[in-house]
Amino acid sequence: MDKALILEKTRYFVKDKMYKEGSGHDWFHVERVCNIARYLAQKESADMFIVEMTALLHDIDDWKFSDVYNTTVTEEFIKSVEVSEEDSNKILNIIKTMSYKGGVVNSTQNTIEGMVVQDADRLDALGAIGIARAFAYGGSKNRSMYDPSIKPMDFKSLDEVKNKDNHTINHFYEKLFKLKDLMNTDTGKEIAKKRHKYMESFIEEFYSEWNFK
Ligand code: ADP
Ligand code: NI
Repeated sequence: MDKALILEKTRYFVKDKMYKEGSGHDWFHVERVCNIARYLAQKESADMFIVEMTALLHDIDDWKFSDVYNTTVTEEFIKSVEVSEEDSNKILNIIKTMSYKGGVVNSTQNTIEGMVVQDADRLDALGAIGIARAFAYGGSKNRSMYDPSIKPMDFKSLDEVKNKDNHTINHFYEKLFKLKDLMNTDTGKEIAKKRHKYMESFIEEFYSEWNFK
């Protein structure tokens, strides 16, 4: 199968599977990640096929939504569209290692394709969209927006990341404000800086409205 056809089939498969996801992992997230990833890939001379395939498939098997993390669905799909063994190893390797997971595991990327897709995924967690996604995710877990009696904290284990019932503002400290210093590519860093600033002013305004006197 030629690569353009594989990409088309993959887009169709992912869109169908993720269209109605309500926690911020929906198809539109994937579409935005693909757009950013393509932009970064061009700037960084990364392999466009690997980058697009990985961006499309990166959230199909999400560790937060199952007890045992595996990439069964992704692997089966990749096999069905006849991606070469070499390419499918590259794609799966990135997908298995790119997730932040509360910062409690090592998610360092050692290929330019991995760096690009990880940056793209992280950029979509920043800025106006990132803020909206954080509250959408918190809402899907019935979490409050904010509780001043709970001080900002980091997580210690994957179990805590998944189950700790924290307010959503904590997520900015535990993850979002850290991402700009974790970007891999120069282009990613630049975009992250702008989105980071926007979130800082959002948080400042949030507290000032919260503490209205
Ligand atoms: P990654 O794939 O890098 O691990 P996640 O899947 O954890 O990223 O995050 C997906 C989206 O949900 C992001 O926008 C992220 O900021 C948001 N999110 C994840 N955990 C939380 C949380 N505890 N509170 C609010 N938003 C969250
Ligand atoms: Ni994602």
